[in-house]
Amino acid sequence: MKPLIIANWKMNPTSLAEAKKMIVKGAVICPPFVYLGLLRGELGAQNCSSEEKGAFTGEISPLTLKDLKVKYVILGHSERRKLFSETDEMINKKVRRALASGLKVVLCVGEIDKKEVLKIQLEKGLEGVSRDEMSKVIIAYEPVWAIGTGKNCSVDETMSSIILIRQILSNLFSRAIADKIPILYGGSVNSSNSGAYIKEAGANGLLVGGASLKPDELSKIIKSSY
Ligand code: 13P
Repeated sequence: MKPLIIANWKMNPTSLAEAKKMIVKGAVICPPFVYLGLLRGELGAQNCSSEEKGAFTGEISPLTLKDLKVKYVILGHSERRKLFSETDEMINKKVRRALASGLKVVLCVGEIDKKEVLKIQLEKGLEGVSRDEMSKVIIAYEPVWAIGTGKNCSVDETMSSIILIRQILSNLFSRAIADKIPILYGGSVNSSNSGAYIKEAGANGLLVGGASLKPDELSKIIKSSY
């Protein structure tokens, strides 16, 4: 599996000129929505609506993203769960709508403290998703305590969480399907720790936040993953 490096810019930058300078080849860039039609390269969105179209002020349809040639959408990020009160049920509706619209879904899961939550997040988040559709799903393991804190998860712990996630997916779908699903690591990734997640912990890629805002750093992260 070719490592998948996804840059989650979150609510950065605040100008198009800056955004254009921050594009790095070899990563999927997930900028704020408004830049998606204006940037070139492999793009992802950071969220989408669970609805197709209609009277939903301020929402963005997955069909609109698809029309802009956006390939991926991040769903269930812990910031959306915590700051915007997204529940597993809401996330599941978005996952299903995004898949039905032809997007690849990056479903984020991660514990605040207890790993039991991973099973719930995966079970509920993927409810009603067909075996065929699972070929368009990517899981991002992001322990909440590691996000934006500089406290990245150890290689050993990441490895055991990835094994646990694959086991849960295997029970939900099948071993063959679970083996094919890319599982990424995210949480305080930088160019010094990135390589180990791919080469030692068994991650199939990375979901990078803060470090993805610095193009040189993101390039180094990409290089370290090969
Ligand atoms: P940081 O890399 O800034 O910790 O953010 C991780 C993240 O939330 C990516 O989605």
